[in-house]
Amino acid sequence: MATEETLVLVKPDGVARGLTGAILARIESKGYSLVDLKLVEPDRDLLEQHYAEHAGKPFYEPLLDFMMSGPSVAIRLAGNRVIEGFRSLAGTTDPTTAAPGTIRGDFGRDWGLAVQQNLVHGSDSTESAQRELGIWFA
Ligand code: RTP
Ligand code: MG
Repeated sequence: MATEETLVLVKPDGVARGLTGAILARIESKGYSLVDLKLVEPDRDLLEQHYAEHAGKPFYEPLLDFMMSGPSVAIRLAGNRVIEGFRSLAGTTDPTTAAPGTIRGDFGRDWGLAVQQNLVHGSDSTESAQRELGIWFA
């Protein structure tokens, strides 16, 4: 079985709060391999592709605005079962209730904004991972 890859993003809130290093440390401590990594300021076109599944939802426009508010760190991450493994490290979407011990649970909270600022993104399936890696690492 070929080693799996996923797209991880440290979102603008994580970069702005200086948490990139702490988040990378958790990923590396877990044992996954950094294959490629870069700072990106995505434009709307890139984000419309990335978040196509959420178009039309109430949080869609605030989400795009948030993701254009500053740079993100894009990471191509590899390892067996890395897709589910990283999502487990990240915790559930809502940082208020994400389990302690997870990235979102330990570092995130509700800031009273229109969108969940939850520090990281991780692809949710092999299909999403291939699609998203093609967008961010074209
Ligand atoms: P992600 O895609 O970023 O890894 O997160 P996820 O799978 O846990 O969440 P998803 O449902 O794919 O939503 C994408 C991102 O949209 C924002 N969101 N805000 N009700 C809300 O305010 C809301 N719902 C979703 C979050 O930033 C979420 O990560
Ligand atoms: Mg998602």
